[in-house]
Amino acid sequence: MSNTDDAPAQASKGATEVHPGQQHTVVIEKVTHGGAGLAHIDGLPVFVADAIPGQEVAITLTKRRERYAEAKVERVLRRAPGEIQPRCQHFHDCGGCTWQNLPYDKQLLYKEEIIRETLEHLTPADADVRRTLPGRVLTIMPSPQVFHYRNKLEMSFGFASMRAEERSGRRVYFDENPTIGFHQPGQWSTVLPITECHLYDEQIGTLLMDIRRFIQETKLTVHNPKTHKGLLRTLLLRRGIHTGEHMICFLVNARKKELEPLFQYFMRFAGRPGLASLMVIENTGLNDKPEQPKIHPLVGKTTIAERLFDLTFDISPFSFFQTNTLGAEKLYEGIRQAADLTDRDTVLDAYCGMGTIGQYLARFCQRVVGIESHPSAVEDALKSAGHNRIGNISFYRGRTEQVLASQLKPGAKYTFDVIVVDPPRAGLHPDAVEAVLAHKPAKIVYVSCNAATFARDLGAFLKAGYELRTVQPVDMFPHTAHIEMVSLLQRK
Ligand SMILES: C[S@@+](CC[C@H](N)C(=O)[O-])C[C@H]1O[C@@H](n2cnc3c(N)ncnc32)[C@H](O)[C@@H]1O
Repeated sequence: MSNTDDAPAQASKGATEVHPGQQHTVVIEKVTHGGAGLAHIDGLPVFVADAIPGQEVAITLTKRRERYAEAKVERVLRRAPGEIQPRCQHFHDCGGCTWQNLPYDKQLLYKEEIIRETLEHLTPADADVRRTLPGRVLTIMPSPQVFHYRNKLEMSFGFASMRAEERSGRRVYFDENPTIGFHQPGQWSTVLPITECHLYDEQIGTLLMDIRRFIQETKLTVHNPKTHKGLLRTLLLRRGIHTGEHMICFLVNARKKELEPLFQYFMRFAGRPGLASLMVIENTGLNDKPEQPKIHPLVGKTTIAERLFDLTFDISPFSFFQTNTLGAEKLYEGIRQAADLTDRDTVLDAYCGMGTIGQYLARFCQRVVGIESHPSAVEDALKSAGHNRIGNISFYRGRTEQVLASQLKPGAKYTFDVIVVDPPRAGLHPDAVEAVLAHKPAKIVYVSCNAATFARDLGAFLKAGYELRTVQPVDMFPHTAHIEMVSLLQRK
């Protein structure tokens, strides 16, 4: 599982001969954090991408580090017991799904196993404490939908292939086959055309087919990341699973003056049933995510509505909203159970996004305070709290570590009984850990999408006198190796 535990002491002398480019045949022993399969060559751990336990595979080594190596599969020589036919023709190419060839119940077992092993091996704590951690992991809650669970799609416009020629000492690129799809891992300049995806909501899939026709019929140019020329850049689709509203955003490489005559092309989507928002968004910068997006609304609002439980949220294009709506309700229920609030409790909802967790918890406690760094998410949080008539919640815009060290210093305004943190994959900034600890909350509810960074942060909380009570995994991302879990830490 971890590189620390599969130490080179286990590797025989032959392992020193292992280097990139070599081909080997191995049998995959188990899954590891991130979804790669683990095998050994002369005792050296080898992490094999896109391989599942029980498969015998021909591999090529891609990387050699001091204590381990990485490899890719060339051919599956023997299938794993229970391996199934993947639904999607793009399974091996697009990089979105890792485990579509595994029955869902097996995927769930592997996720639990990864969490248990990550906590035991990567938490910086004494060995006898680490050994107790896997026992805190509860049975994973499955996703209510195993396919078509995603309410949001982000795809790239681009070229399916690119031909390069040397002309007068210069390299000239010829783009071929404008299309829409995903960049395959490591292939940022071309796009794999996606004609089916079983993770997105089915309505989103239908819309995608129309957009494919749109490229062919309008002949609008698509963006080439090498030359930074071409109009259509990325597509963002969202759908409110409970409301039926949908949003279409075209992110384009052009400014207002060039754009206005082109608006008529995008208006062909105007009459779609359920369309609540059609926007063209300028993105002439170098990154696919615009820093200060200029939005041109063509039809309807600049948000769509989605419900979680009895609460309604208006989601703008770039605000974080859980991508599996029905899974989010399970996740939030797990958070409520872990927090086990009383009506006297004051709760901090840190990394609150649109304040969805806090707004759900507000009815079970005295007061909730949210902190979020993304400006549009804070605006969305304030609006939705107003619509949902929640009077006992307020929001701070800024970085958790900074807000907790300034406006919300211990004793300044609130004493938090429960602190909920839901950081991005990188986990908590060390200053955020320190600031949370300074408040001495009775409970910390840590929502994590990355078992390794959670294990790292857990070490700091254990050291400061907290105890890990429960870890509730919730599967929000079937067919992928992504993990989501809610952990309860209690002050001793
Ligand atoms: C995993 S999302 C969770 C959002 C929300 N809790 C939910 O369930 O929808 C993490 C959020 O943290 C925000 N964020 C990232 N770094 C932050 C920081 N240092 N302080 C506060 N918010 C941050 C992101 O903008 C994002 O909205």
